[in-house]
Amino acid sequence: MPIQTTPNIWHNGSLIPWEKATLHVMSHVIHYGSSVFEGVRCYGQPHGSAVFRLPEHMQRLLDSAKIYRMEVPYTLDELCAAVVDVVEANEVAPCYIRPIVLRGYGEIGVSPKGSPIEVYIANFPWGKYLTGHNGADVCVSSWNRMAPNTLPALAKSGANYMNSQLIHMEADLNGYQEGIGLDVNGLVSEGSGENIFVVRNGVLYTPPLSNSALSGITRDSVLTIARHLGHTVVEQALPRELLYIADEVFFTGTAAEVSPIRSIDRIVIGDGKPGEITRGIADEFFGIANGLKPDRFGWLTPVKVDAAVPVPA
Ligand SMILES: Cc1ncc(COP(=O)(O)O)c(C=O)c1O
Repeated sequence: MPIQTTPNIWHNGSLIPWEKATLHVMSHVIHYGSSVFEGVRCYGQPHGSAVFRLPEHMQRLLDSAKIYRMEVPYTLDELCAAVVDVVEANEVAPCYIRPIVLRGYGEIGVSPKGSPIEVYIANFPWGKYLTGHNGADVCVSSWNRMAPNTLPALAKSGANYMNSQLIHMEADLNGYQEGIGLDVNGLVSEGSGENIFVVRNGVLYTPPLSNSALSGITRDSVLTIARHLGHTVVEQALPRELLYIADEVFFTGTAAEVSPIRSIDRIVIGDGKPGEITRGIADEFFGIANGLKPDRFGWLTPVKVDAAVPVPA
């Protein structure tokens, strides 16, 4: 969907106009994919708005940068404050927030040493990522996720999203809403932009991070909520065929939130409707995010922006 612009973007410590946040075509990031980024959501609350798990997202940004030896000249607290600043300055909530650290204009070789680190934070309205009555119809991709020791899955780098694009485009061309990537050994990894959960016989399963999955903040939130609700949670390698015989399957992600899956490779999951465990977890997740349930895990950072449109649970 087209990006809805906002007045300001945070760049290296200052707010600049949206249209001035441009890069030279010879910047290192354009040629070599040298960026790490985050996707964060700010939710409307009954009074004001709140960013969901802001420190965890900004810590992952710093971790991604560290893996790629990118020295970010801002502390965790400074980055969190910058997010609050830009959201409050733009007065747009609910919104999606996109912080990015990249290697800019300097030298042309693969070596990134002579290219400066630039930090930008934008925010803009963004609604539901995966839609569909009773859940998404998805497929298992013919593309695998990156093998370990190639592109690190724990770093949320721009380069990883070339693989995500292959998975997503193939799914889209074949009439599915999303694709599931297997890892290099054929075990379930994750969606092109989501972690995945499976329910079978009352137990909640998700692949461990060693199956080339991103350390999703929503994944962590769902694991926390599921344990709080008393569910048995198991992080273990999952064979592909377990997806087909699952009682419930759902994606998690900042963009996708908690999104039930209705079918995989045209095989209907369970009775084709969001299952009880998925609904219970989604209810708690959206309840906390939208300020309708207690913030029992301390996940919300308030921002002084009145939400324009109430966010439906
Ligand atoms: C490949 C991939 N896996 C998982 C996720 C979910 O991560 P999070 O819940 O932190 O948004 C995302 C989204 O950022 C993603 O792009």
